[in-house]
This record gives sequence, C-alpha cells and structure tokens, in this order.
Amino acid sequence: MKCRALHKMNIVIYPGTFDPITNGHTNIVERAAKIFDKVIIAVAASPKKKPLFELDIRVNLAKQVLAHLSNIEVIGFDILLADFINKHNANVILRGVRAVADFEYEFQLADMNRQLAPQAETMFLTPETHLSYLSSSLIREISSLGGDVSSFVHPKIVDALKQVHLANTQK
Ligand code: COA
Repeated sequence: MKCRALHKMNIVIYPGTFDPITNGHTNIVERAAKIFDKVIIAVAASPKKKPLFELDIRVNLAKQVLAHLSNIEVIGFDILLADFINKHNANVILRGVRAVADFEYEFQLADMNRQLAPQAETMFLTPETHLSYLSSSLIREISSLGGDVSSFVHPKIVDALKQVHLANTQK
C-alpha cells in the first residue's frame, strides 16, 4: 500500500500598517504568493501611528490593489500579532527589509514574535532595488504637497490620496 505524504499548507502572514499600500509592498506580496500556499496581508490598526486612512479603508484599498492575485487574503486586525498568527494557523511571518536602517527594528520584532508565537518563523524579503526607498509616510507627504506619486502607488491609491487631501483642505 502506498503511503502519501501529507502536504502541510504554508500560510504566511505579511503584517504592516499599509497606510497606504505602495508598489513596494505589492512587490513583496507578489513574490511571496509564488513561494507560499497562502499569503495573508494583515493590516494592523496601529492607533499609535495615527494613520491617515481608517482601518477598513486600508483593507479595502489593499484588496483592490492585490485583486490580481488568487492565493491571498487581506484582513484587518487590532489584536496582538502573535494571537492573529495562532488564529490563522500561520507558520511564517513575512517582513520586507529595505535598507540597513530597517534591521534593528526588524530583529527586535522577530525576537519578540519568536517568544510570543514560537511556531512561526520570521522570514525577510527585500523589495526590488527601484522600490527600496519607498515608504508610506513619504508617499503621504509628497501627495499632501501636491506631488505626483503615480510611479510609486496603484492608481486607486492615487485617487484615494487625492480625495482625502481634498476633504482635509475643505475642513
Ligand atoms: N515597500 C514600501 N514601504 C515599506 C515596505 C515596502 N516593501 N516595507 C516596509 N515599508 C514601510 C512602511 O510603508 C512603513 O512606512 P512609514 O512608517 O513611513 O509609514 C514602514 O516601512 C514600517 O511600517 P510597517 O511595515 O507598516 O510596519 P509597522 O512598523 O507599522 O508595523 C507591525 C509593524 C504592524 C507588524 C507591528 O506594529 C505589529 O505587529 N502590530 C500589532 C500589535 C503587536 O502585536 N505588537 C507587538 C509586536 S511584537
């Protein structure tokens, strides 16, 4: 009798604030979607960061931007990342590292998550070089000052940024 090895699903969680999602984040998700069975983009509430976009809007925007990928899911969360990982039976935490400056914080986060969720390994991907200088706060700042961010974010994000800045100027 043949014994078929059971294939364990590799579920990866890619957490972040995504305020808003940029082409750098998308690049990481697209590459992760080729490696893992399922990629969960976990959009953190991150109240301390005082995000420009509400959590449900950040989730919706990420869903629209990543609609071309089939093995992904976008979920908002406001609990401990370790609890979110357990809830979704994930075995990998994915983080993007752009430059040396990111390393210290990423090591701290990885060490802490190893203590809190030992069943999950943190893995890192680097974005492609032309996207390595991107950050959501730079995008928000350039856009708020009327700069063109269309090379760095999806057209849906360009529109969302325009709308939110227009609403803010009319207040
Ligand atoms: N392309 C573009 N930008 C990128 C990027 C990429 N590939 N990778 C990271 N960034 C940028 C982000 O845009 C963000 O920029 P900003 O700060 O200028 O807005 C910055 O790098 C880092 O933000 P992010 O990746 O969103 O991480 P974070 O530090 O805001 O959030 C969480 C980290 C959400 C994973 C962490 O806070 C968390 O786990 N929160 C849940 C609560 C919890 O469990 N806390 C304890 C953790 S041990």
